[in-house]
Amino acid sequence: MATPPPRSSNASRYLIVLILGLLIGAIGSVMLYRSWQDRQDKFPTAIMEVIAKQYGLLKKTADANQCTQADITPRIVALRAMANDLELAYPEAAKDQRFGSHASQMRAVLDETMANPPGDCASLKTLLGKLGQNCQDCHKDFK
Ligand code: HEC
Repeated sequence: MATPPPRSSNASRYLIVLILGLLIGAIGSVMLYRSWQDRQDKFPTAIMEVIAKQYGLLKKTADANQCTQADITPRIVALRAMANDLELAYPEAAKDQRFGSHASQMRAVLDETMANPPGDCASLKTLLGKLGQNCQDCHKDFK
């Protein structure tokens, strides 16, 4: 008569199966997450992140009281370039004419700024106020 295997060996087999199951589950979840991520369009987030970064850098410039045109102009140019593609980034929202008017407002403020670039902190702060209001207006309607 065969002797049954000792209990401890059964327990370690269950443990191995459990660990394998957890591993396969974890790998599967990562693969699912990755494929979901690949299907996301990163363009709109990228545009907004660049806008936020450039806006933040301008704010730093103002806070540091260092407002030369050399500090300011490259940021304005970058912001203006991003503003070109707001409708391209959010085609669904852009069907609403309020989106277009907020986007045009941003472009108009930046165009005006490029024609007449701020060279001191007071005018930079005025610009930041206008731009910040513009972000808020659009986000209020579309976020
Ligand atoms: C014409 C409309 C519009 C303007 C102007 C605008 N945004 Fe946005 N922003 C959006 C939309 C739409 C979203 C996406 C909202 C969502 O996905 O729920 C967004 C999202 C964001 C996000 C989050 C990005 C993400 O997806 O993680 C940041 C940061 C941001 N905006 C910063 C700014 C800043 C700073 C300004 C102004 C300098 C600005 N935005 C101006 C429409 C605008």
